[in-house]
Amino acid sequence: MVCLVVAMIWTLPKKCDPYTEWYQGGVFYEVFPASFCDSNNDMIGDFRGMAQDKCLNYTKSLGVRAIRLNSIFETPHYPEDYKNVSTLVRVASQLGSLNDFKQLVNKVHLLDMKLILDLPVYPVIDQLSFKKKSESFNNSHLEPVVEFLRAEPPDLVKEALLHWINLGVDGFYLKGLEYFIDDVNLGNSLRLWKSIIGPDRIFIVNEAVINSALPDMLNLILNNINLVDVHLEISKGIGVITKQIDHIQNGTLFAQKGSPWVHWNLGDEISKRLANLLPYGNATLGATLLQLMLPGTPSIFYGNEVGLQQTLDPEVHDVKHLHQLAVMAFENSPPQVLPWMPAAKKAVNFREADAVADMIKLRSGSPSIYINSVFKEGDNKANADVKHSKSDVLVIQRWYPRRKSHVVVSNLGNSSVTTDLSKLLYSGVVKIGPRPDSISESISFKDIALAPGESVVIQLD
Ligand SMILES: *[C@@H]1O[C@H](CO)[C@@H](O)[C@H](O)[C@H]1NC(C)=O
Ligand SMILES: *[C@@H]1O[C@H](CO)[C@@H](O)[C@H](O)[C@H]1NC(C)=O
Ligand SMILES: *[C@@H]1O[C@H](CO)[C@@H](O)[C@H](O)[C@H]1NC(C)=O
Ligand SMILES: *[C@@H]1O[C@H](CO)[C@@H](O)[C@H](O)[C@H]1NC(C)=O
Ligand SMILES: *[C@@H]1O[C@H](CO)[C@@H](O)[C@H](O)[C@H]1NC(C)=O
Ligand SMILES: *[C@@H]1O[C@H](CO)[C@@H](O)[C@H](O)[C@H]1NC(C)=O
Repeated sequence: MVCLVVAMIWTLPKKCDPYTEWYQGGVFYEVFPASFCDSNNDMIGDFRGMAQDKCLNYTKSLGVRAIRLNSIFETPHYPEDYKNVSTLVRVASQLGSLNDFKQLVNKVHLLDMKLILDLPVYPVIDQLSFKKKSESFNNSHLEPVVEFLRAEPPDLVKEALLHWINLGVDGFYLKGLEYFIDDVNLGNSLRLWKSIIGPDRIFIVNEAVINSALPDMLNLILNNINLVDVHLEISKGIGVITKQIDHIQNGTLFAQKGSPWVHWNLGDEISKRLANLLPYGNATLGATLLQLMLPGTPSIFYGNEVGLQQTLDPEVHDVKHLHQLAVMAFENSPPQVLPWMPAAKKAVNFREADAVADMIKLRSGSPSIYINSVFKEGDNKANADVKHSKSDVLVIQRWYPRRKSHVVVSNLGNSSVTTDLSKLLYSGVVKIGPRPDSISESISFKDIALAPGESVVIQLD
């Protein structure tokens, strides 16, 4: 009996941190594969390149939980026209073969990361399904029956899901699902698709899907989706961001336990690069630290962690629309110059990636940061409070019962500020700071000085 008890105590985990699923609270990393790593010097990044140690060890060392490939499908002129896709299964030959893809997935899994794929449901289904829109009318209502998604075979999305699951893919961003929000088959399709991928694989959708769904549909969506992608308008200033965070935290996604988590992004394949939106100091780092302190699953757009700029080349007009998809830079590697994508003009700062990696490590060990909400007295509530939002300074506190709280203090303006937060906060230790000398020092909340765009992450005593 005694032995049994001793054995039980012995095998108890040392630290009982609350459990989350792999897609909850970890950090994702979004990649445009043609701009990431090239293996064969054909000047287009590819699957074999991504699978190289140089590239995968880098993402692993950042501490990301999942890599998301945002565009791998065949188009007439990949990558320049990467959006003109008409298949959900064939990959662009420039990226390699399906076998190369499979090898990449295997290596990602060996490093204990997951691989997620963007599935461009729109425009593909829109083009290939059988053009039923506005051709059939519901006679009792004289309203067009929108029926792009197929109730009966062939269901192209279902076929694609089976295809990619077989190759080891762990989740799918259903791109453009919001265009099908009025489709009579959406509910049944979604339920079927989720049953195909099962509970361990995930679906991500854009916030627009949630915002435009009617109440009946909304519940069905919430039950079959794991993450909801929200773009934080970080460059729009403190008022807009505070409202956005408030709005999300008070909204549907935090109203009850078990809802999808927020997948926060600061930039994606169609938006301007963070380094160009916030063109001062170390603002990309400051913004990323703030993002990594939000309740949910933050997603870093490749290169933002080192302040990668978009390309500027007035002579090459035909790639103008791709300038945000600049080629990734790796430390100790010669800059990759791809003919279809001119090199970025301004150097990146590799030291920023170290601070981001430290922040991800802090996050993954701190329930107050990686948990997104706490259920208390019959109420579900985000465990994040905006404590201060004034004169460009945003303070967000993250808490969890019986654990140390953390705050992030961010200067979102473009001039230096010194602020007195001693009425809000007593004492703490700087965990991640903008300057190496600011780390692990007790901080005086009486006069916190921050350069434009800087953030500091503090553990409260
Ligand atoms: C990459 O990581 C693997 C596994 O951790 C290791 O065996 C390998 O030596 C690393 N390669 C480089 C170039 O650091
Ligand atoms: C898209 O690709 C199709 C062939 O799949 C082609 O006919 C069409 O012209 C392309 N559209 C654009 C805008 O490039
Ligand atoms: C037409 O509308 C009615 C009432 O909303 C609905 O019950 C019926 O299923 C619809 N028919 C079709 C073909 O969608
Ligand atoms: C969100 O909720 C908090 C506290 O319940 C409230 O102070 C705040 O005004 C709400 N914000 C919005 C945008 O509704
Ligand atoms: C950015 O941060 C580094 C330290 O990480 C610092 O040396 C440098 O001065 C900062 N740059 C600007 C423009 O503030
Ligand atoms: C930064 O300065 C520019 C002009 O000096 C101004 O237009 C812009 O609104 C400022 N941005 C913020 C976030 O204060």
